Amino acid sequence: MIKMKINLASIGMEKGRQYETIITTRNPDGSKNAAPIGVIYAGDDKIITRIFKGSHTLDNMIREKEFVVNITHNPELFTVSLLGNLPQDYFNDDYSLKCGDAYFKCKATSFTEAVKQSDPIKKKGEAIVTKSEVIDMVIDKPVKAMNRGFGYVIESLANLTRFDLVDDAQKEKYITRFKESNRVVLKVGRKEDIKAMQEIKKELIKRGYDL
Ligand SMILES: Cc1cc2nc3c(=O)[nH]c(=O)nc-3n(C[C@H](O)[C@H](O)[C@H](O)COP(=O)(O)O)c2cc1C
Repeated sequence: MIKMKINLASIGMEKGRQYETIITTRNPDGSKNAAPIGVIYAGDDKIITRIFKGSHTLDNMIREKEFVVNITHNPELFTVSLLGNLPQDYFNDDYSLKCGDAYFKCKATSFTEAVKQSDPIKKKGEAIVTKSEVIDMVIDKPVKAMNRGFGYVIESLANLTRFDLVDDAQKEKYITRFKESNRVVLKVGRKEDIKAMQEIKKELIKRGYDL
């Protein structure tokens, strides 16, 4: 275990980009809660979350002010923490996850009611944007924080290879999917993912598709 100076770039985080993490928090009865949450790196030791009202995570963050951001690529951790309750023996005493690769502890500094216009969920006042400072960081294994962009690039490329083999209705579906993928990558993807999506878009336009 390496306890180190806080440097989120060391786990591959780029300023302004969003990473999928598992946030662990303390419930009112002292038990531990885990949920997948997107974390935006705001530079230096700052991060931002936007969490919809009604979640345990948000309530716990508002009450406790402290929480842990766990870095993992483990699909089981994401799935079980979303669909059910992660068993208490998955957690360390400091609320981090035993089988995460790295984690950082945060202190929330502000909570603001907000809605982001680019999001499909637009109801005002439904979400809270929290700004937080990272106060401690532990890396158990070398890891890059999970970013959704690359998956969309690969899926868009795979669909591109099938374009010439499918009928018009299916082509239309691929175009709709590409538009949605591009929207997400522009929002959360890394620079190289955005560049790749621009190349795919150029290719689709070259082939005569309206984007
Ligand atoms: C990859 C992933 C990222 C997510 N990011 C967010 C997020 O940024 N904000 C949010 O409100 N919900 C997000 N969710 C949904 C929450 O995890 C979900 O609402 C969860 O049930 C909240 O659990 P809790 O009540 O234990 O906090 C995300 C889900 C997944 C699978």
